[in-house]
Amino acid sequence: MTRAQCPSAFRTLALSVVGALAVSGLAAAAAVDPEAVTFYRDVAPVLQQECQVCHRPNGANLGGMVAPMALTTYEETRPWARSIARQVATRAMPPWDASPAHNGVFSNERTLTQEEIDLIVRWAESGAPAGDPADAPAPIEWPSSGGWLIGEPDLVLQFDEPFWVEDDVDDLYIYRKTTVTEDMIPEDRFVKAIEFRPGSPAVHHIIVPGLGGIAPGNDPVIHTDGMADVLKAGRDLTWQMHYHKEPGEGTGSWDQSQVALKFYDSEDDVKYEVFNADMGKYDFAVPPGASDYTIQTEWTFPTDSEIVGYLPHMHLRGKAAKYEAHYPDGSHEVLLDVPNYDFNWQTTYKYEERKKVPAGTRVVLTTVFDNSEDNPANPDPTATVRWGEPTTDEMSFGFMSYINDENKGHVAFSGDGDGLDLTAVVAFSDESRDGKMQLEEAPGGVKQYFEMMDQNKDGAVDMEEAKAANAFLKQMAEQRETDERAGRRKKAL
Ligand code: HEC
Repeated sequence: MTRAQCPSAFRTLALSVVGALAVSGLAAAAAVDPEAVTFYRDVAPVLQQECQVCHRPNGANLGGMVAPMALTTYEETRPWARSIARQVATRAMPPWDASPAHNGVFSNERTLTQEEIDLIVRWAESGAPAGDPADAPAPIEWPSSGGWLIGEPDLVLQFDEPFWVEDDVDDLYIYRKTTVTEDMIPEDRFVKAIEFRPGSPAVHHIIVPGLGGIAPGNDPVIHTDGMADVLKAGRDLTWQMHYHKEPGEGTGSWDQSQVALKFYDSEDDVKYEVFNADMGKYDFAVPPGASDYTIQTEWTFPTDSEIVGYLPHMHLRGKAAKYEAHYPDGSHEVLLDVPNYDFNWQTTYKYEERKKVPAGTRVVLTTVFDNSEDNPANPDPTATVRWGEPTTDEMSFGFMSYINDENKGHVAFSGDGDGLDLTAVVAFSDESRDGKMQLEEAPGGVKQYFEMMDQNKDGAVDMEEAKAANAFLKQMAEQRETDERAGRRKKAL
């Protein structure tokens, strides 16, 4: 997952602790007489297994999403009974946006059975009785306050200097640096688990190339045994920080966000580096009021591979996401359907059992945007929305991590060939947000090609021109490859 060029790298593939703790099978409770549903005997076990990882004192901080109340005792839970019944009946809680068709497929699944939902609703409707404390399950020993969900870390990194987020900050993007010294790691280490911890309530997202990042609702990354990211020794880490808050007196705060890491003991334990296919598109404009604006991108597996998981990423107008596989034999399968995407829950869908796909499998990502007034999260239905980092602009990404036996990664932005994607360069550079890159907006390395790219000579490079340049680059690369092969053949002769 460290190979991608995409800066919005919320490519944290997470084994949720929630998932690890979730034990289903409270079906027995469903058989209970409705009159007799009690907190201690019937409801507490469900809360323990499905809710308390977040709803407890010092509960999980998933990228800034912290549950507002604890649900560990009767006294804490009783005042919320009605609200709990509503939240579980509408399946708003526990948070999990994938279609029920995938139940049982992903290891970090957070869902209740219909029996569990009915039980909680009946309990709330019957006056939320306590019952007999002797019936209660033994309380779960959660890690002590300040504990990391990934367990005791081997290394905790934070930026070299704390940063003051001023009172008048509304949206702010900055870069911070951490020097990874030889004292910390004398040689490259293989990373087993990664957990980010925002250092201030103003932190909206964090991206650290190489280690992924965190956005609201992200779980920590705990790789399955044998899979790893790599932390390079003696190399500076750059943090891209996005702060977002209501400006105002007294709203400023210090930030020194942290990332905790667990390493594999030995390189021998590592079988696979995890690679990431970023299906993404930079070249789009969602019209004002559009309620079903659809973007499709695709990516083809070059070798037999195993998919580890998915992370669809959109912003406030994101409505739905779907990954579909088209197999070489002509058959077709929906891999992941997220019919009600919620920006607040950037969930990674991680397979219980990795999905094997043959070489040539084409994965199509469909993202749908709602820029109408009917989308309550929509900050401005009158705007034309293009690619951009602020949440008021949009993104259309489908991260997909995979491993293969050749242990060889292959990262591509779909459509436009491998390597540098000039539509991405245009989207990134377009500070004036008119959908084009002006000469003064162009990054240094690209300026020299500006004239070549600006085919209609209007002083700006638009998306069509960027695509034409991509096609040209791709052709050049293919030519090079052919030449090289020809060269190799010559040598062989
Ligand atoms: C992954 C973490 C997580 C899990 C698991 C979880 N919650 Fe929540 N819950 C939250 C967060 C964060 C909020 C506040 C933000 C929101 O509403 O989305 C919340 C909000 C709520 C609210 C609304 C509180 C209010 O202010 O009105 C209720 C009720 C609730 N949760 C009940 C539950 C129940 C019951 C379960 C288990 C069946 C559960 N939650 C599982 C994180 C979680």
